[in-house]
Amino acid sequence: MEFNIYINNIPTRVKEGELLLPVLKRFGIHIPTLCNMEDFSPTGACRMCVVEVEGRKELVTSCTFPVEENLRIKTNSQRVMRARKSIVEMLLSNHPDDCLYCVRNYNCELQKLASEMHVVERRFHTEKRPFFPDHSSPSVMRDAAKCVLCSRCVRVCDEMQEVTAIDFVERSNQTVVNSAFKRGLNISNCIHCGQCITVCPTGALSDISAIDTVQAALGDARKKVYFLISPSVAVSFAEHFGLKPQKEVMGVLTTVLKKLGGTKVFDLGMAIDLNITLEAEILAQRLREGIKEPLISSCCPSWVKYAETFMPETTALLSPIRSPQQMLGKMLKEHYANENQLSADDMFVVSLTPCVGARFEITRPEMAQKGVAEVDAVITIRELMHLIHMHRINILNMPASEPDKPFAVGSALGFKAGYSGGKSEAIAQELYHLLKTKPTEAFRYTPGRSPTGIKEAKVQIGHRSYVFAWAASHKKANRLLNHLRTNKKNEVCYIEIMSCPDGCLAGGGQPIEVGKEKWRNRKKICQEMEKDCEFSVAFTNTQLQTFLNTLNKKLGNQSLKTLFKTGFEFSG
Ligand code: SF4
Ligand code: SF4
Ligand code: FES
Repeated sequence: MEFNIYINNIPTRVKEGELLLPVLKRFGIHIPTLCNMEDFSPTGACRMCVVEVEGRKELVTSCTFPVEENLRIKTNSQRVMRARKSIVEMLLSNHPDDCLYCVRNYNCELQKLASEMHVVERRFHTEKRPFFPDHSSPSVMRDAAKCVLCSRCVRVCDEMQEVTAIDFVERSNQTVVNSAFKRGLNISNCIHCGQCITVCPTGALSDISAIDTVQAALGDARKKVYFLISPSVAVSFAEHFGLKPQKEVMGVLTTVLKKLGGTKVFDLGMAIDLNITLEAEILAQRLREGIKEPLISSCCPSWVKYAETFMPETTALLSPIRSPQQMLGKMLKEHYANENQLSADDMFVVSLTPCVGARFEITRPEMAQKGVAEVDAVITIRELMHLIHMHRINILNMPASEPDKPFAVGSALGFKAGYSGGKSEAIAQELYHLLKTKPTEAFRYTPGRSPTGIKEAKVQIGHRSYVFAWAASHKKANRLLNHLRTNKKNEVCYIEIMSCPDGCLAGGGQPIEVGKEKWRNRKKICQEMEKDCEFSVAFTNTQLQTFLNTLNKKLGNQSLKTLFKTGFEFSG
């Protein structure tokens, strides 16, 4: 049913059941919010979004208030403005005044609200909260003193990731967001996805930064610094600096990293090609042997951690191939080092990635050889932008240069693997190449949704069709896995799971500007970059094939799959 409400005396048509806040947004009225998040349950916790409703004594929170016929509301009355300003003043009353030292300085929602409400003096003084930052996790830093108790992190961790590593503990003015038993995040069931960082409005959650470690390596004359660029990083780099989405972006980024002091810059896309090639070979072998269970992707480190923690029975189905980051790290510290008479100790490998989980991955014991880590540091896109600004590197008119050989070019699959469903398509393309019976047979890939809402695609190769399914975020992944478990007729041969809501393009290490609009835009850039790639699939990447021929000769009897094999922890 539709009816009228009156917003600042203007009649407005609305639908029964709608909440006031989205209605106001639709009509272009800006209402400040703090705890509200699109697609998550509204809590009405912060009261920033209050408006005045005629006939009501109290102001109402527009994010939780459903519209009623003939409702008359005022969105910016003096009473409303005073209330919002007082809320900000109260939040600031016990906030540590260290904006100048805060990682979110200039990008803090509380700071913005204070400026918007014209808060220019401290009216309320309350006791500062005596919390010490928690640096225990390899990926996420928590500073409860800066927390405004908006519960966004709690809802993302619970509703989207179904992890619940953090929650509210204690009551009234002692309330705080913490992990179980108030112990460090390192011993919680956190999967290091970093999604809580991307939604936190303040500096209460941030990266365990690698900037100082990388700066120290760059300044150490003994160290040779090797940067690995993930194609998803090139996408966000193009987006951030407004560059045309074409292959030169990778080249510009290469020049930037050389200016920063990098010895060599490699395209991680080539390791993505190799990862996809080996996974497709394993899948083809399983299909030939008639194995019914699906192969599940294992390149998302947070998904691997989720499987190990919450569903150890699934780990037997995970692809045994290392993630592209670890494959390239291992290749560099072993084969490249031997080839170039380098000591692995003098090599410092830095992975540039949109992934916070990658920071956890490099600390896994199986990702080190004789005590030497395969990858020494992970720089998220947020940190990369920070380094560029810190070194005052001007991107405009920056010439492009080629990434270094032998890992100079990846195929379009590297960009595809950046968004949800992309890796499934990439594996399907390689599988088709391995299984097709006639050279002229065309690749037919039909993505869609099953009647139960599961995202899947069918590939016809010869007389058989193969089903691929994928999900991003653990809420969706759990729905997919439960569906497959209970549906006896399922024919899915490959499952792709990514922890972040639209894959790496919405990764926990992306710039803090949450929203589906951003993800859609990055996917568009990704697809543009795919079109501009020299090689569309891994098996046509001549540089990869040349490299593999040389590596295979050196390996002798050892297979590539053994070289890049990894294991999983069973934490039942
Ligand atoms: S990193 Fe992910 S799993 Fe860990 S607390 Fe944050 S949202 Fe939860
Ligand atoms: S840590 Fe950040 S997101 Fe979580 S409740 Fe506090 S302010 Fe909100
Ligand atoms: S945004 Fe509505 S109560 Fe917080």
